[in-house]
Amino acid sequence: MVRNYDPDRPVPAEVVDRLLDHATRAPSAGFSQGWGFLVLETPADREAFWRATTTPDATAPEAGEDGWLRGMRRAPLIVVVHSNRDEYLDRYAQPDKGWTDRDEARWPVPYWHVDAGFAALLMLLTVVDEGLGACFFGIPPEHTGSYRAAFGVPAELTPIGALTVGYPAPDRRSPSLRRGRRPVAAVAHRGQWGGPPPDQPPAG
Ligand SMILES: Cc1cc2nc3c(=O)[nH]c(=O)nc-3n(C[C@H](O)[C@H](O)[C@H](O)COP(=O)(O)O)c2cc1C
Repeated sequence: MVRNYDPDRPVPAEVVDRLLDHATRAPSAGFSQGWGFLVLETPADREAFWRATTTPDATAPEAGEDGWLRGMRRAPLIVVVHSNRDEYLDRYAQPDKGWTDRDEARWPVPYWHVDAGFAALLMLLTVVDEGLGACFFGIPPEHTGSYRAAFGVPAELTPIGALTVGYPAPDRRSPSLRRGRRPVAAVAHRGQWGGPPPDQPPAG
């Protein structure tokens, strides 16, 4: 993730188009494609986004000279990714799926959010391929209402997160990275959770 951008280099229009085209190639349950993207490129639109989604507290660490928000606000492009649960419930109520009760309990997890996340990841990968940088981040729940109001987001769409995109400028690494990457052996469980199964007693 990149959290500081060159404010004087806009994202070329063809790159914006490619990002969005690739987002629509994400996999989706039942090919529901229940996603929606708000693309903010003009200074006025971007400013409206930051005004609606952040608290104007100049003393907050994220707003200060070296703060997280300072670099993020320089991004020439913001794409907000939304999921639409209703599109999934409608799709799976169709005859080839047959879940006409539209019961959410049928879903192992909310695939509308999963698929929107896949779309966001495809945009992140495209950004890297194009030599740009991006950061995925969430809109805090206390700001979701003002975000929706500012941009006329329909009630059935949930903003699952946003991407800042632009040409990278010198950045500070996220302090979270000090946690280190969890090794594959700690997260991948071959054959059985926690290791191979104990030896079976000999038959007979
Ligand atoms: C769901 C999600 C939410 C995130 N929220 C934020 C955020 O609010 N602010 C931020 O700076 N980075 C955010 N990140 C980025 C993570 O901090 C970052 O992916 C992680 O530290 C690993 O760094 P890397 O992606 O550069 O390898 C978020 C990432 C994900 C997947």
